Amino acid sequence: MAFAPILSECAIVKSPASESSDSSPLAPHPVLKEYYAEADQRQQRVDAMFNASAPHYDWIISVMSFGSGHRYRSEAMHRHGLAEGMQVVDVGSGTGSLALIAQQTVGEQGRVVAVDPSEGMLTEAKRNGVTETLVATGDRMPLDDDQFDLLSMGYALRHVADLKDTFVEYRRVLKSGGKVLLLEITRPKNRIGFHLLRFYLRGVVPLMARLFRRSPETQELMRYYWDTIENCVPPESILEALKAAGFKDVQRHVVFGIFSEYTGLA
Ligand SMILES: C[S@@+](CC[C@H](N)C(=O)[O-])C[C@H]1O[C@@H](n2cnc3c(N)ncnc32)[C@H](O)[C@@H]1O
Repeated sequence: MAFAPILSECAIVKSPASESSDSSPLAPHPVLKEYYAEADQRQQRVDAMFNASAPHYDWIISVMSFGSGHRYRSEAMHRHGLAEGMQVVDVGSGTGSLALIAQQTVGEQGRVVAVDPSEGMLTEAKRNGVTETLVATGDRMPLDDDQFDLLSMGYALRHVADLKDTFVEYRRVLKSGGKVLLLEITRPKNRIGFHLLRFYLRGVVPLMARLFRRSPETQELMRYYWDTIENCVPPESILEALKAAGFKDVQRHVVFGIFSEYTGLA
């Protein structure tokens, strides 16, 4: 994606050895009172925002990334091992951007399941050509154990209730040796980069949704999008939670200082 002003790094960060056996839940961000009052209202609110914005989602994401989002997603999926014949589950699939990339690559011998709690987003995914969809959250998927070679999740990690439970569930559905690939935006460490990205994602992008799509719901969703990035737990916590769930060779690959690609082997 083209966030040129904040291009700064491309690095691989290996997870340190797990230091804690704390079993308390790990929410990706605290309660965001501007949108919902209590943690148990979060999923319903998030689903409502995505359902209402589903017809506008592909447009706003494409504009937001200056048209480069598809190429980046495809490069990341292939760089991390997407190949013909694979069994893939894409969680938080939304309108199916990653699932469609997977479908094109795995071919007839493979399988791709697109999982998402928002029926509106999955309706758009089917319209875009996704063949197998499943309405579910990432922490509780009605799928058998040991089925998939690759589990992908694009920009949806911030929407699960508990990272620890979710990663245990991911490991359950992956075959032994299967890979988890989590794509996320991480708030820049650099102050100037942070304020530029905040201005763009919390100010400009929501305003474009309002002006060009006449959608106050999408305007709100895009503000929420940034607020979850700004308040997200640090990358180290995500790496720790992957390790605690039993993933091996846990790594974070960083592109341009803000695109985090978390991987681990089941
Ligand atoms: C920003 S969209 C990402 C869509 C797509 N993966 C992409 O790369 O553009 C986030 C998606 O996460 C979904 N989502 C919300 N809560 C979720 C949960 N608890 N588990 C899995 N996905 C969730 C939303 O419905 C939405 O479709």
